[in-house]
Amino acid sequence: MSLLSLQNLLKSFGGLVAVAGVSFDVDEGSIVGLIGPNGAGKTTVFNIITGNYRPDSGDVVFDRNDITGRATHAIVRLGIARTFQNIRLFQNMSVLENVLAGCHCRANAGLFSAMFRTPRQRSEERRAVEHAMRELAFVGLEHRHDNQAGSLSYGNQRLLEIARALASAPRFLILDEPAGGMNEQETADLTELIRAINDRGITLLLIEHDMNLVMQICRKLVVLEYGAVIAQGTPADIKRNPKVIEAYLGIDC
Ligand SMILES: Nc1ncnc2c1ncn2[C@@H]1O[C@H](COP(=O)(O)OP(=O)(O)OP(=O)(O)O)[C@@H](O)[C@H]1O
Ligand SMILES: [Mg+2]
Repeated sequence: MSLLSLQNLLKSFGGLVAVAGVSFDVDEGSIVGLIGPNGAGKTTVFNIITGNYRPDSGDVVFDRNDITGRATHAIVRLGIARTFQNIRLFQNMSVLENVLAGCHCRANAGLFSAMFRTPRQRSEERRAVEHAMRELAFVGLEHRHDNQAGSLSYGNQRLLEIARALASAPRFLILDEPAGGMNEQETADLTELIRAINDRGITLLLIEHDMNLVMQICRKLVVLEYGAVIAQGTPADIKRNPKVIEAYLGIDC
């Protein structure tokens, strides 16, 4: 069953057509890779899904609800979380505080109890910290919880963004170049982490330039070029698709 369905999405910036009629589906429980050359429109598609951009036309259907153009916080509440191509952390805050920022959309305590720190507020805070620590342990960063986010290596900052996204308890996780800036070992660990996230029942859509990674873990690949889908299918299909080889993969793939 399709969890996310993109139907004929179109988005222009001035005269530039960044997304030119994109349609594809992501099945519940699967891992789908969105690949394509620089400037192909991949991140713009993500920004449309997460409500950062409203498409000029077309629909985003999530779990059979039309969510096109809804506010980003409403989309997070529906169970869609993301990481960013250009890491967006609170660099001067601690690792734990960054993950807690991901939990806050789920906290129920009102302003009154926040100001006077009622027992309910305190117990909610404690639960949020436990929850955040569990997600930090899941990505392997629990021992760094007290450090400033900005002191982490680039690869660990990417993991921290994943922990923050997981803290909102998503059904659907969108990763924009998660292996960007990672070395070979970090990328291998990330591959296992993405599998473990999927084993928790979370559906994933990822943009990634590391072909080895996407070929290993994706059930389906969608290839964008100049804002349009030029191919979609299993990694094996995509590897031998002549249009893809010409547009993107090159002769060594
Ligand atoms: N907010 C914006 N304003 C103007 N142009 C934009 C904006 N966002 C994206 N673009 C343009 O839209 C096109 C697609 O950009 P996008 O970031 O979606 O590509 P991408 O496939 O993610 O590329 P990369 O692999 O380099 O991240 C590019 O030409 C980009 O310059
Ligand atoms: Mg991008």
